[in-house]
Amino acid sequence: MTASAVDPSRLPRHVACVMDGNGRWAKQRGLKRTEGHAAGEEALLDVVDGALEVGVEWLTVYAFSTENWRRPTDEVRFLMRFNESLLVNRRDELHDKGVRIRFVGRRDWKVPKRLLRRMDESIDLTAGNGKLTLTIAFNYGAQAEIVDAIQAIVASGVSPSEVDEALLARHLYDPEMPDVDLWIRTSGEYRFSNFLIWQSAYAEMVFTDTYWPDFRRSDLFEAIVEFQRRNRRFGGLDD
Ligand code: IPE
Ligand code: IPE
Ligand code: MG
Repeated sequence: MTASAVDPSRLPRHVACVMDGNGRWAKQRGLKRTEGHAAGEEALLDVVDGALEVGVEWLTVYAFSTENWRRPTDEVRFLMRFNESLLVNRRDELHDKGVRIRFVGRRDWKVPKRLLRRMDESIDLTAGNGKLTLTIAFNYGAQAEIVDAIQAIVASGVSPSEVDEALLARHLYDPEMPDVDLWIRTSGEYRFSNFLIWQSAYAEMVFTDTYWPDFRRSDLFEAIVEFQRRNRRFGGLDD
C-alpha cells in the first residue's frame, strides 16, 4: 500500500506502536534473538519515514518495557548497547528530517548512565524540530507511569477534590503527549503489555501478524487506512 491510499484530512495525530516479534523473526531464520532486535532498526527507520511522508505528528514506539528486565542478562545488555548505538548512529539523520526525539519511561539506576546521556543529547539536538515527534518508550510501563504521576501529585499536596483526569495527565512522563489515536501491535499478540494505557483509553487498535523486523511503511499506511474505516464514538452516538 502506498501513501496515496491514506486520506490526508483524517490522519491519526498520534500513532503508537508495540514493536514486537523480533525474537520469533530471528528464530524462524535460525538466528540469535539479538539479531532480530538488530533487524528491527530498519523497520523503525522506514516507519518514521512513512509517518513523515503522510504527516503523522506523533509516533511513539515501545522499545523496552519495565518488565523486559526479566529477560536473560545477555539480551538485556545487548538491548542497552543496541539502543545506545541506534541513537548515536541515527540521530543526525533523524534531526535532518525534522524529527524531534523524546523519551518516556523511568530514568532509574537500572538504565546505564551512558545511555541516559545519549538520550539527553538526542533530546537536546532535536528539541527545535517540528515535523514529527518520535517518542521512544524505554524502561517504560504504563502502570509505573501512573504510579509516578500519583506520587508527584501526592507530594505536591493538592487536595483530593482537585485531582481529576486533566491533573493526572499533566503529571505523566510527557504532559504534552496527545492521546493515542491509532495503537498498533505487530507479531500476532493481542495485549497491551503495559503500553500507554492511560493515553489509549479511546485509541483504535490494529493488530498484525507481521513480525516487527518485516514491518514497513506500507504496513503503517494499511493500519492508517483501517483506522480511517473505523467509526469513533467516544461513548456518544453517531452524528
Ligand atoms: C520485541 O520483540 C522487542 C523487545 C521486547 C525489546 P521480542 O523480543 O519481544 O520478540 P518476541 O516476542 O520474543 O518474538
Ligand atoms: C512488549 O513486548 C514490549 C516491547 C515491544 C518493548 P513483550 O514481548 O515484552 O510483551 P509480552 O511479554 O509478550 O507481553
Ligand atoms: Mg515479544
